[in-house]
Amino acid sequence: MKTIIGLDEFRLARRALHGTVGLVPTMGYLHEGHLSLLRRAKAECQNVILTIFVNPTQFGANEDLSKYPRDLKRDLALVEPLGVDLVWTPTAEEMYPSGYQTWVAVEALTKKLEGAMRPSHFQGVTTVVAKLFNLTQPDKAYFGQKDAQQATVIRQMVRDLNFPLEVAVCPIVREADGLALSSRNKYLEGADRQAALVLFHALNAAQELYAHGERHAEMLRLKMKEIIKAERRAQMQYVSCADMDTLEELDLIKGKALLSLAVFIGQTRLIDNFILG
Ligand code: PAJ
Repeated sequence: MKTIIGLDEFRLARRALHGTVGLVPTMGYLHEGHLSLLRRAKAECQNVILTIFVNPTQFGANEDLSKYPRDLKRDLALVEPLGVDLVWTPTAEEMYPSGYQTWVAVEALTKKLEGAMRPSHFQGVTTVVAKLFNLTQPDKAYFGQKDAQQATVIRQMVRDLNFPLEVAVCPIVREADGLALSSRNKYLEGADRQAALVLFHALNAAQELYAHGERHAEMLRLKMKEIIKAERRAQMQYVSCADMDTLEELDLIKGKALLSLAVFIGQTRLIDNFILG
């Protein structure tokens, strides 16, 4: 495993790789969710590149960029046994040098759900991911279903800009009690950790209605709201039952649907989702 910081050094190391390349882009503070992507990439590609970059352009002004958890030493120890070939940890100065002015924006899809709450977020994500695709030239890039809208937006960008690569979306890895793994779970202390289960419970309750034949999306949204309201420490941002591809809110559920929600537990903003159908 080779760890690289500089962009020029990375280009050289990339050129020296032979065979297929799988890319796993992350912001570090790795957990089993990230490791599941790396394992899948390792199983499917001859080379695996992991990038660790806390991308400043995808954080809003009032978000947690400065306190986003970082621990490179711990990250490297976690991935060492997985057979990752290159770990690249670019710097913000190299990714966005002074005078930087080019952005990649996916339009309609990014106006919904997370994009409605975090207006410049996806432009930051698509820009950095496009740059990482250009620099790492992967055959396959791996993303998590945990960030469902992010995966949909990136698929759209890959289609629209003809990136010559395949996007793989991997299932959500959860704690034993159902909490979806997230680097931000580190912020959950004391009673907040237990309260955070409200996301999983709300999704489960809505899924149960669906399993019993309910097809009115509004009934599922109401059920999720009811469960979140009952948790004193939780502040709902949105609940959604939307079309998987367009992310438009549904009236009646016919094909596949994405149940998703964003909830503040204290100061910590958490997201989670289930796929129905
Ligand atoms: P980050 O939050 O570090 O996540 C990196 C990848 O891990 C994403 O594709 C995310 O969906 C996936 N992931 C996170 N938690 C997961 C879980 N519990 N189960 C399965 N996969 C999980 O997402 C980002 O970074 C950034 O936006 C990035 C794409 C790197 C661009 O900066």
